[in-house]
Amino acid sequence: MAEAALIRTGLPAQMRCIEVLEPGKHSRLQFSRQPLPELACGQVLIQVAAAGVNRADLMQRRGLYPAMPDESPTLGLEVSGVVVAAAEPELAGWLGKEVMALVPGGGYAEYVRVPAAHVMPVPQGWDLIQAAATPEVFLTAYQLLFSIGQLQPGQRVLLHAGASGVGTAAIQLAKARGAEVAVTVGSDEKAQCCLALGAELAINYRQQDFVEVLRQQWPAGVDLILDPVAGDYIAKNAALLAMDAKVVIYAMMAGRQAELDFAPWFRKRAQLIWSTLRNRSHDYKAGLVQALLADFAASFAAGNIRPKLDRVLCWTQAEPAHQLLATNQTIGKVVLQIAGADPAATLDSGIS
Ligand SMILES: NC(=O)c1ccc[n+]([C@@H]2O[C@H](COP(=O)([O-])OP(=O)(O)OC[C@H]3O[C@@H](n4cnc5c(N)ncnc54)[C@H](OP(=O)(O)O)[C@@H]3O)[C@@H](O)[C@H]2O)c1
Repeated sequence: MAEAALIRTGLPAQMRCIEVLEPGKHSRLQFSRQPLPELACGQVLIQVAAAGVNRADLMQRRGLYPAMPDESPTLGLEVSGVVVAAAEPELAGWLGKEVMALVPGGGYAEYVRVPAAHVMPVPQGWDLIQAAATPEVFLTAYQLLFSIGQLQPGQRVLLHAGASGVGTAAIQLAKARGAEVAVTVGSDEKAQCCLALGAELAINYRQQDFVEVLRQQWPAGVDLILDPVAGDYIAKNAALLAMDAKVVIYAMMAGRQAELDFAPWFRKRAQLIWSTLRNRSHDYKAGLVQALLADFAASFAAGNIRPKLDRVLCWTQAEPAHQLLATNQTIGKVVLQIAGADPAATLDSGIS
């Protein structure tokens, strides 16, 4: 711990965290012990209650999505917990507060450090499980819909992977902004969930051609498409564009290559945009946190917008949690409970 840090209570010298062994196709997870993170200027230390699981964690353990330089290589991009130390007296107001935070890594641990500017108070009436399921997916959805997509009330948005963590957040934010929402999903159960969250249209792509359905239902086209699928979806998206439409690709779950006819994009003056959150600057993320809270903190506290939880597992179940995501079984978020876990417990190796 840096000398400048204000320590609220006696903290242990070491913490447990989950580390990745043999990053790659055959990676494994294992508990390890590490010194508590040292605080740099502007940072606070969170005693982690729970961590959200994200598909990015699965990519990171495969070696495809490494931590940014100087950031923790431990998995975990969002947490909830209690602030137990702060680097400067100006940050002392956070001490003892229940918070949720976007972290650059290190969330699968008993303690994590984070810039105070990336920390949000737990909304009134929420528990720490809901809070852990919020920062990464709601900040991603906010960024894609509004900062990049410039979604306006009355516009039409198509969300691929509508029942994903990001998708379930995006449906709620887009509806709250007064947009019309369509989603694509891989099962009727996922479609029902998206409709219950407010989507007007949920298309099970295993049963229907989503291009055909949308051309019938929304003949004027779609103003904004958020697409984590890419691959052959990019050409399909081109058939759905309204004038001046934007298509934001934020992952490549169906592959990184596709044949593309430029003509429909020209005709519609459309924009094809690629976006990441993790490698944005500290200030950009801080601005996003402020913008999300300014626009939606009241809706969070009123309970109008909440993360859609699939399930909560003890962090000893991190491996089965990853398998659930990898096999597309989850609807909304999986959260790992870290506080209160048996300190002698070992990690489960898979789904029984
Ligand atoms: N660029 C960024 O800033 C950013 C930020 C956050 C997340 N992401 C990325 O966004 C994606 C969603 O993340 P998440 O954590 O919300 O995921 P998630 O909760 O695990 O949900 C992903 C869903 O995508 C669908 N899917 C998977 N493979 C597919 C394919 N080949 N074609 C069509 N649909 C497919 C599946 O649902 P169905 O059964 O409905 O097909 C799956 O359940 C991930 O790839 C993640 O890495 C990017």
